[in-house]
Amino acid sequence: MAKEKIILTGDRPTGRLHIGHYVGSLRRRVELQDSGLFDRIFIMIADAQALTDNADNPEKVRQNIIEVALDYLSVGLDPEKSNLFIQSQISELTELTFFYNNLVTVQRLQRNPTVKAEMAQRGFNDDASADNKAGIPVGFFCYPISQAADITAFNATVVPVGEDQEPMIEQTREIVRKFNSTYAPVLVEPEILLPDNASCLRLPGTDGKAKMSKSLGNCIYLSDDSETVRQKVRGMYTDPGHLQVSDPGKVEGNTVFTYLDAFCKPEHFEKYASCFVGKKVSFEFHSLEEVKAQYRAGGLGDVMVKNFLYEVLEDTLRPIRERRAKYEKDIPYVYEVLRKGTEAARAVASRTLANVKRAMKINYFEPGILDELIREQSEKYAL
Ligand code: TRP
Repeated sequence: MAKEKIILTGDRPTGRLHIGHYVGSLRRRVELQDSGLFDRIFIMIADAQALTDNADNPEKVRQNIIEVALDYLSVGLDPEKSNLFIQSQISELTELTFFYNNLVTVQRLQRNPTVKAEMAQRGFNDDASADNKAGIPVGFFCYPISQAADITAFNATVVPVGEDQEPMIEQTREIVRKFNSTYAPVLVEPEILLPDNASCLRLPGTDGKAKMSKSLGNCIYLSDDSETVRQKVRGMYTDPGHLQVSDPGKVEGNTVFTYLDAFCKPEHFEKYASCFVGKKVSFEFHSLEEVKAQYRAGGLGDVMVKNFLYEVLEDTLRPIRERRAKYEKDIPYVYEVLRKGTEAARAVASRTLANVKRAMKINYFEPGILDELIREQSEKYAL
């Protein structure tokens, strides 16, 4: 039998998901799900990982589990095809982590660039000075190891994630190789699957800052209503040098165009042609290149482009919002999806854990093994 193709990926439930998540991962997940190329797909709500830097706020994590689940369902993840589950309810993952801990050095963890950057962001450091109140939570420091457990527990062959997760997948691969060569080849080495469109690797915030983040208040959420989207688009950062409509404008670094790159489809030019019809000037565009060329040349105002972007975004967001409204009215169904998905995921993780323990020969009480152990040890002491 050919090796099964298995996907595992997930998100920390620390907030509602936004269009950056959509472009960077959710859209791709739905495509992968519907491609029929995968034998199993596991999508994990990583609440235990979220707790590694929210230990004092489990309520935030608890509330956001349902938000993320609603976002998943509303973008089109289908529980019949994708197994949605909650990380913390699979205790096998913590057991795997405990054994993998022995295969990783503190120095190796310290070199993980994503963990380094996240520690700096959160003010976690090992500076012994008196004003260092934070320190580094051990759980946070070690979360790459727990992430290796997430991935290997489900025998994932493919992990679709953003580029910031690359060091995690690399570390997982190292753990797999170390485990397999030290004990027995039972773990599967995963491949990372990065977003394919370079401009989509990371969508900037509406203020033009490099990252959409809740704390910066520069996100457009999948669950925003259309009026909120309209206002956020209206207030978006463009080209600060584009003061008069007649001035030439810059497209590079102009957030409105970055979003258009990510969301605009060929059919939008006909569908929303009226956005470019004004009282003073009108344009007829057939491609984004034509819009950009006009903007660069001057004469095309931000308002027109923003109106167009609003329509383009709504074209994607409207169906998501409608599906969300339906699921919000059926919360018992959402929890049932998570409960069933978690049960199914747990069965798989439990088989992996059994294989891991067998490989490490720490399966003392397994049927057959105990008899053998008794025989071996009795013989030793019978001498
Ligand atoms: N670290 C990921 C994030 O912050 C979430 C995550 C946890 C994950 N475990 C995973 C992603 C396993 C992929 C595979 O978004």
